[in-house]
Amino acid sequence: MAGQGPGLQAGKGLSAEGAGVSGVAASGTAARRAAAPAFDVQAVRRDFPILHQKVHGRPLAYLDNAATAQKPQAVLDALTRFYSRDNANIHRGLHELSERATSAYEATRARAARFLNAASENEVVFVRGTTEAINLVAQTFGRARVGAGDEVLITTLEHHSGIVPWQMLCEEKGAHLRVAPIDDRGELRLDEFEALLGPRTRIVSLVHVSNALGTINPVKSLVAMARRRGIPTLVDGAQAAPHLPIDVRDLDCDFYAFSSHKLFGPTGVGVLYGKSDLLEAMPPYQGGGDMIASVSFEKTIYNRVPHKFEAGTPNIAGVIGLGAAFDYLSRLDPAARAVHEDDLLSYATARVAAIPRARVVGTARAKTGVLSFVIEGIHPHDIGTILDRQGVAIRAGHHCAQPLLERLGLPATARASFAFYNTREEVDALVEGIGRVIEVFGA
Ligand SMILES: Cc1ncc(COP(=O)(O)O)c(C=O)c1O
Repeated sequence: MAGQGPGLQAGKGLSAEGAGVSGVAASGTAARRAAAPAFDVQAVRRDFPILHQKVHGRPLAYLDNAATAQKPQAVLDALTRFYSRDNANIHRGLHELSERATSAYEATRARAARFLNAASENEVVFVRGTTEAINLVAQTFGRARVGAGDEVLITTLEHHSGIVPWQMLCEEKGAHLRVAPIDDRGELRLDEFEALLGPRTRIVSLVHVSNALGTINPVKSLVAMARRRGIPTLVDGAQAAPHLPIDVRDLDCDFYAFSSHKLFGPTGVGVLYGKSDLLEAMPPYQGGGDMIASVSFEKTIYNRVPHKFEAGTPNIAGVIGLGAAFDYLSRLDPAARAVHEDDLLSYATARVAAIPRARVVGTARAKTGVLSFVIEGIHPHDIGTILDRQGVAIRAGHHCAQPLLERLGLPATARASFAFYNTREEVDALVEGIGRVIEVFGA
């Protein structure tokens, strides 16, 4: 991940196995800061045109990155270039434009494989996003593997897209959905997780980083626990990919999913990684053009993987835009970026925790990217609405993790979520805005 760009020197970012900050006191952050080159956040911000605007007369502080991240100029340029110069359908054209489009599309597959450290680009399937990736696995691999009385294990930390597809499968098959519990900090209880891995567990599906709390699950250990019992694993990396280095071979998971739009790429595109032997053995998800080798009315021979899973004309421009996002990210120094992101979350956590009647929700020892909080007596939606008037964009609600919020005894939280282009000044604007909320509501 070394290259030219802001902050530039090869380095190692956070490990995917539980590094990150823990609430206010981030052990190891000082040492990492000393070792990492400086991160020039102002230089990086110049790459994101959308950040430089006023909202309701105040400078925009975009702190809703867990919902979707902003796009650098390089991604916008890639989309414009594709549509103004190269637009054509892929894989079947003999003409120059189709060849250009095909090679740009397939080049992103190779970049995605590098991003994930996959063994082969054939292990990369382009989908619409994390949601579609999980549905694909549930409806192909899961449907073939799960039967009546079997179990699917998930965790309390899942986003709805890590719950509902498995629930649908379990309903169809007469199987049981088991849920590994968390403690009050928002950490998975590892002993209970392990105890739930039983002889009927057919697949484990778990989130790498919680979108509602920012908890980083120790996925490598969790995958190893499942593997020792021969149970396959799917990791939902929607919130991990924008913050942590991902190494699917090191994690040894069978499937890994993430969305382009949270990774500074276009909407409508995502990646499903799957181990090649599993992808080979799985039936297709949808039928149609491009996923076939030959068709007759009697029988269809499917295309080789990964094309077997990409029926119909895909989001060609979106995939090419994602390729530009991978390139952009590869030019940021990962260690410098990680230190900056850690600093933002620690700083924001300390400042919000110091506000009277505010409470940080989710105090796991390993966190990244997300600060959820509540203020006694004020509904999170009111917090979000008043912050918007101050130019501060956050999210309020159940964050598509209703069972998790229920476990925490809350209907909703306010959530500020960070990207590497955010600044301490934006955190200050958040805290000032919360002061205004408290004034308005007379707390
Ligand atoms: C942890 C997690 N999983 C899955 C998803 C679903 O992603 P998408 O809507 O891009 O399919 C999200 C989106 O917020 C998420 O945060």
